[in-house]
Amino acid sequence: MHTQSAVLGGNRLVDVVTEALELGRTAARGGRCATYIPELANADPASVAIAVSTLAGEEVALGDTAVRFTLQSVSKVFALACVLQRGDPHLWERVQMEPSGDAFHSIVRLEEEQGRPRNPFINAGAIVVSAHLSGSDGKARIEALRQFLRRASGSGVARFDVDEAVYRSECVTGFRNRALANYMKHFGVLEDPDVAVDVYFRQCAMLVDVAELARTGLFLANAGEDPITRNRLLTPRDNRTIVALMATCGLYDEVGRFAVRVGIPAKSGVSGGVLGVIPGHMTVACYGPALGPAGNSLAAMTMLEFIMNRLSLSVFEPR
Ligand code: DON
Repeated sequence: MHTQSAVLGGNRLVDVVTEALELGRTAARGGRCATYIPELANADPASVAIAVSTLAGEEVALGDTAVRFTLQSVSKVFALACVLQRGDPHLWERVQMEPSGDAFHSIVRLEEEQGRPRNPFINAGAIVVSAHLSGSDGKARIEALRQFLRRASGSGVARFDVDEAVYRSECVTGFRNRALANYMKHFGVLEDPDVAVDVYFRQCAMLVDVAELARTGLFLANAGEDPITRNRLLTPRDNRTIVALMATCGLYDEVGRFAVRVGIPAKSGVSGGVLGVIPGHMTVACYGPALGPAGNSLAAMTMLEFIMNRLSLSVFEPR
């Protein structure tokens, strides 16, 4: 296939991914599952999975691929895509495009910056994006996001159901997110904070497996067009915006280290999922709920670092 000859050199994709998985399993031993959403603490910290989808249609999925996990912050990428797709003129008046250098749930800069979040991938920014999903109520907005995800996933098989236990678990503990939303309401950045937070909690609780995640994100590696179905999800310009924001804001206060070690646009979530995008080539989705100190999956960091270095895919190196 084109991808193999262009990117893999003498390597077989399945061999590189197999080796990465073994390293990921070892790395996972050093981390812990998130507990601040109590339901996430029930995940098996030893489970690790990885899936690659290439623009040429090649798919490799290895490890604990049957495990379904909630998208959490990875959903922020798709919610932003769903909003940009319909050309929302006001979003960038309400959300900035700069890395924050703070933890994902931090509130500190909101006071200094009049309630306008630093970027759409920290929690405050993502809650604003959720408020811009189309629909008259929360249910309609989640349905709009689900339809977008189904279309992006190509097959029509992926369901993106909400895990009700995880959703409820975040509802009863999510006071920081409610604080962020109420604070933004004070500055006029949000209209209805309760609905925005409810939509945000539901999108975070949508279920996927690694293969679905890699496949659903494939348009991001192909200038907004699904390379398999030829469905256009985003304009090339909006797609570039999202991928650039993944590269600069996708791993919160660990984004610099990730750029150095791995060197690709990516988005992480506290359930242990990470979606990596290699523009023009492929997506890599990883799962490993054992997290490091910055709240990112240790297995995912290790697997992505190994693959990008082995195949020289860092976007900061010449090909
Ligand atoms: O809002 C929260 O705290 C979670 N629903 C999502 C946070 C998250 O995934 C941050 N990622 N590393």
